[in-house]
Amino acid sequence: MKKKFYITTPIYYPSAKLHIGHAYCTTLTDVFARSKRERGYECYFLTGADEHGLKIEKNAEAAGVTPQAFVDNIVEGFYKLWDLLKITNDDFIRTTQDRHVKVVQDIFSKMLEKGDIYLGEYEGWYCRFCEAFWTDTQVGVDHLCPDCGREVQKAKEEAYFFKTGKYVDSLLKFYDDNPNFLTPVSRKNEMINTFIKPGLDDLCVSRTSFTWGIPVKENPKHVVYVWLDALTNYITALGYGSDHPELFKKYWEDEDTEIIHILGADITRFHAIYWPMFLESLGVRKPDREFVHGLLMMRDSKMSKSKGNVVDPYPLVERYGVDSVRYYLTREINFGSDGSFSPEQFVERVNSDLANSYGNLLNRTISMIGKYFDGIIPEYKGQLTEFDGALEAMIDFTIEQYEKAMDDLKITEAISYVNELVNRANKYIDETTPWVLAKDEAKKAELGSVMNHLARAIYVASRLYHPVLVVASDKAFEQLGLSSEKADYQNIKDKHLLDNLQTVKGSPLFPRLDAAIEVPFIAGLMGSNK
Ligand code: MSP
Repeated sequence: MKKKFYITTPIYYPSAKLHIGHAYCTTLTDVFARSKRERGYECYFLTGADEHGLKIEKNAEAAGVTPQAFVDNIVEGFYKLWDLLKITNDDFIRTTQDRHVKVVQDIFSKMLEKGDIYLGEYEGWYCRFCEAFWTDTQVGVDHLCPDCGREVQKAKEEAYFFKTGKYVDSLLKFYDDNPNFLTPVSRKNEMINTFIKPGLDDLCVSRTSFTWGIPVKENPKHVVYVWLDALTNYITALGYGSDHPELFKKYWEDEDTEIIHILGADITRFHAIYWPMFLESLGVRKPDREFVHGLLMMRDSKMSKSKGNVVDPYPLVERYGVDSVRYYLTREINFGSDGSFSPEQFVERVNSDLANSYGNLLNRTISMIGKYFDGIIPEYKGQLTEFDGALEAMIDFTIEQYEKAMDDLKITEAISYVNELVNRANKYIDETTPWVLAKDEAKKAELGSVMNHLARAIYVASRLYHPVLVVASDKAFEQLGLSSEKADYQNIKDKHLLDNLQTVKGSPLFPRLDAAIEVPFIAGLMGSNK
C-alpha cells in the first residue's frame, strides 16, 4: 500500500449556503483522512470554494454586492460549518486567490501554445444552472438538462475549445490499465456509453457572456470557463506551477502518494473525462482513484441549493452534537449509493447504535468495574472464560476487516464492522453473566477477565469509531483511564493495554432521544436553508 495520501472534496460553489449534502461529502472525506492519519500515514486533505461563474455573478447582482463580497460572505459560512463538523482539512483553496488565478492563466497559455486549445464558435444547449453545454442527444426532445432537469437554451458565442479528440484513446487505455480508477465501477461504463461512445465534443473552456472569471491573458474579453478553472484547484493548491512546488512534489508527483478525489455523482463526467485529459495535456500524472458517492435525496428529488429542498446542518449539529450527525451520514447512507435524509432514521440510528449499543456498553462496563474492582481494570490473564476466545477473535477480525474496508473507501462497511463488535461485546455480557460470577469468590479471576475483555473491546471499538465519533471516542478513552498517547492506534493490538487503569465514571455519551419530540423537530428543519 502507498504511504502517503492526498484526498480532496469537490470545491463547492458559494452561490448559497451549504446543505447537508455537501456536509455529507466533506464528512466522508474527513473520515477517510482521519483514519489514515490515525494509522500513521501522512494524509493531506484539501477542500475549497469554486467562486467564479455566471450563477455567482447573478446572485451577487441580485444581492446588490460585488461578486467578491458575495463569495467572501458565503465562504465565511463554509469555514464555520467545517469547524462545527470538526473537519480536519489541511488547506482551503478559493479559486479567486492569486495562487490559483495566476496558475490557471499559465495553464491556459500552455494549452494554447501546445495547440490543445483553439478559438472557435460554440453553439449548443446551455444549462445556466449547471453552467454546462449539452449535446442534442443529451437534452433529448424536451430540451432538459440531463443533470438538473431544467430547460436548456440554445446558445452561441465565440469561445476557446479544448481538443478532447486528441486524448480519447489514451483516456480509454487509462481506464483499462487502471480498473480501480473510478469507483463504483458502474460509473466507468456510464462514462463510456453515455459520453465517450456517442462522440465526445471538444470542450468549451472560455466564455464571453459574463465577466466573473479568470481572464484569458491572450484575449481578455474571454474568461476561463469554470470547469478548467475549477478542476485545476487540485494542483494549484499544492503549488503546481508556482515558486513553491514542494507540496506538489510530495503529494502529487511522488508515486508513493495515492491521489484520491471524492465527488458526487453529478460531477463525475468532469472529473473522469476532462480532468485526466487536462492533466495529460499538461504532462502531469493522473489521480489514482475517484470515488463517486451517491446523492442525498429529499422527498424523492436531489437536495439542491437551487431547488431549496435542503436540510441545514447547523441546527442539527447544535442540537444533537457533531458525532451524531457525522455518524448518521457515514453509517446510514451507503457510501456509493443514493440515500435519503429521514428524521425517523436519524433518531433511530442515534438511539439504537450510539445510545443503546455503544454508549450503554461503556456505561455498564465502567459501572461494573467500579462495583467489582473499585474502578481498576483487572489485568489481562489470557482466556479465562469459555467466551473470551470468541471475543478476542472478533476483535482481531474487526480490526482486519475495518482496515481493509477503509483502505478500499468502503467507509459505511468499515463502520458497520465496528457496530458488530459492539453488539458482540454486549452479547458477551449476557453470555458471561458477570453479576452471577460476582457472587462467587472463586470466580473472581473469571470476573476480572470479563472486565478486561470488555474494556478492551470498548477501547478497540472507540479507536475504530474515532474518525467518525471524534468527541465521544475521546470521552470513552477518558472513562477507561487511557491517556491519548496510550490510546494511540499503534497500541490497538496490545492485550495488556488496559491493565490496571483507573476508570473514571462519566455521563452517558449519547443520551437517548425522544422520538416523539425529535422527529417533528428535525422534520421542521427540512426545507429551510435560511
Ligand atoms: N463547483 C462544482 C465542483 C467543482 S470540483 C472541481 C460543484 N459544486 S457544488 O457545490 O454544486 O457541488 C459540489 C458537490 O457537493 C457535489 O458533487 C456533491 O459531491 C456534493 N453535493 C451537492 N448536493 C448533494 C446532495 N444532494 N447529496 C450529496 N452530495 C451533494 O459542483
